[in-house]
Amino acid sequence: MKQLHTIAQCKQWIEAAKASGQTIGFVPTMGYLHEGHLALVNAAKQENDLVIMSIFVNPTQFGPGEDYEVYPRDENRDLALAKKVGVDVVFTPTVDEMYPKETTIQIVPGAQKNVLCGKSRPTHFDGVLQVILKLFNIVTPTTAYFGMKDAQQLAIIETFMEAFNFSTTIRRVPTIREEDGLAKSSRNVHLTEIERLEAPAIYKALQSGQALFRKTKNTAQTIETVRQQIETHTSGKIDYVELLAYPQLTPIDAHTTEVIIATAVHFAHTRLIDNIILQIEDEE
Ligand code: PAF
Repeated sequence: MKQLHTIAQCKQWIEAAKASGQTIGFVPTMGYLHEGHLALVNAAKQENDLVIMSIFVNPTQFGPGEDYEVYPRDENRDLALAKKVGVDVVFTPTVDEMYPKETTIQIVPGAQKNVLCGKSRPTHFDGVLQVILKLFNIVTPTTAYFGMKDAQQLAIIETFMEAFNFSTTIRRVPTIREEDGLAKSSRNVHLTEIERLEAPAIYKALQSGQALFRKTKNTAQTIETVRQQIETHTSGKIDYVELLAYPQLTPIDAHTTEVIIATAVHFAHTRLIDNIILQIEDEE
């Protein structure tokens, strides 16, 4: 496995790979890899000749007072894992390499950023699109892979791709969970022992919400049930519980075919997100 640090090295490698007709699967990450990332790599390997992973904790997607400084990092462990699952190239730029100077141009998502995580993290998705645009211009991937745990991010990236005629295909990869249902996340390492025991209640609450919504189609009641369960079974503080049409992220109406039930919960040192997406058509 090759490790590349600079944009120039990366572009050169990509150019050579493309010149020999190879397809490029891209897995952008912020490192501290877990099985969720490895599932993205596996999907990428199945569909491409070569797989490139970026590991870059992108400062521009963290707001003031968020966890940029303490975001878990362990490059050596990441490199070993990436190699083990068959990544061909790891791109590990520094912040100076990616952002050598202040830019005055911003990419701002539309209304999809005003709900869910975007409400409490108002500039988060601007930073995500900024780094995605840069990474996609560097890597020019054939196909890129994103996890469904970050469902809002994925929906916004899909809209971005369509609106600006990117040639890259985006693949949605299902959330990978611990045996007790907790969604795998780099941030889980910041849960205390007790919080770790409580945290699976988030997914259980979403599952109860899913069952209730299937039966009743009652949004308010579903939200209330999910909230109550999280409040009863965890010490976390709920940021939001929302039900929206997916991937539009608009209120559910008669035309909605896919619904996301999503939540974010603050624990003492970290904030966890999770969601379930359900089809409405199969229910009738
Ligand atoms: O999902 C993530 O890890 C990040 O938001 C991404 C897509 C790598 C952009 O920094």
